Amino acid sequence: MRIGVLTGGGDCPGLNAVIRAVVRKGEGQYGHNLVGFRHGWRGVIEMETIDLTTANTRGILHRGGTILGSSRTNPYKSDDGVARVLDTLRRERIDALIPIGGEDTLGVANKLAGDGVNLVGVPKTIDNDLSATDFTFGFNTAVQIATDAIDRLHTTAESHDRVMVVEVMGRHAGWIATYAGIAGGGDVILIPEEPFDIAEVCSRLEHRHRRGAGFSIVIVAEGAVPAEGTMVLQSGETDEFGHVRLGGVGTRVAEEIERRTGFETRPTILGHVLRGGTPTAYDRVLATRFGIEAIDAAHEGDFGKMVALRGPEIIRVPLEEGVRELKLVDPKLYDVASVFFG
Ligand code: F6P
Repeated sequence: MRIGVLTGGGDCPGLNAVIRAVVRKGEGQYGHNLVGFRHGWRGVIEMETIDLTTANTRGILHRGGTILGSSRTNPYKSDDGVARVLDTLRRERIDALIPIGGEDTLGVANKLAGDGVNLVGVPKTIDNDLSATDFTFGFNTAVQIATDAIDRLHTTAESHDRVMVVEVMGRHAGWIATYAGIAGGGDVILIPEEPFDIAEVCSRLEHRHRRGAGFSIVIVAEGAVPAEGTMVLQSGETDEFGHVRLGGVGTRVAEEIERRTGFETRPTILGHVLRGGTPTAYDRVLATRFGIEAIDAAHEGDFGKMVALRGPEIIRVPLEEGVRELKLVDPKLYDVASVFFG
């Protein structure tokens, strides 16, 4: 078989571990030919390929990003996008495709599966918001980086009696904020699922400071929205999947806290730092297991599936189930975090 592999959407620690696993078992044990498409769906549209071999995928397990490159190109956004995808797959004699991506990349995969393309999806996102899998790789790394940063910000918070506002990624779901907030001892955690009232945030901080705390740490997911719906700063730019570029709510929250409470407050936006660098051991293992399951499914002709983690097991679920809805933060988990607010 000739099997194509692509990585789409935001880069994510662990992508290279998936590619390595797919190639190692696909070529080494099954004798298939692996073809990498560059920059997600763009490489399929533009027929930009590289051969993937055991030799050229050595030494990438621990490397962040993706050796294939990525993009947010959506073939369904241009008139001839899908036709060009199908043309490339025919001309490259691709028997099966393994797209590695989040809701957008796998959403395209799901539509192409409806057009008869043989696909096995691998879920990827640091946001951990895909519903059919307990966890996505990249999330554990992002939480660890955020927690390390919060630990470091405690130093300045304590030394200067400041409120430190830490903005983390999380467009629709506040998984990173909630996990890192619990791990890092966040005094308030703001997530997209729970619109916040800035007056209540300030009164929690004032309460904490009245009880003797000289500093506070506030964690804000980039997609957090104030109850009154006016505080998120948006650039207005959207990508091909219609997502507004976020970033900036942490700065606004910090300004408001300082203005309303008089506490000296500083924002830190962690942004893409959370996606950068080497994956944790957990993410390397999860990504490797996903890659092995995906190549097994492709080899068996079990198409239209997405690999997923369910409890301790790696399973296969229908692709459409994988992209049907986003997985939001469990209110019970947020309740655990909120015990420590204020
Ligand atoms: O999809 C993962 C993610 O990191 C989100 O948390 C974030 O909102 C988005 O990507 C940022 O995308 P970009 O790198 O294209 O600005």
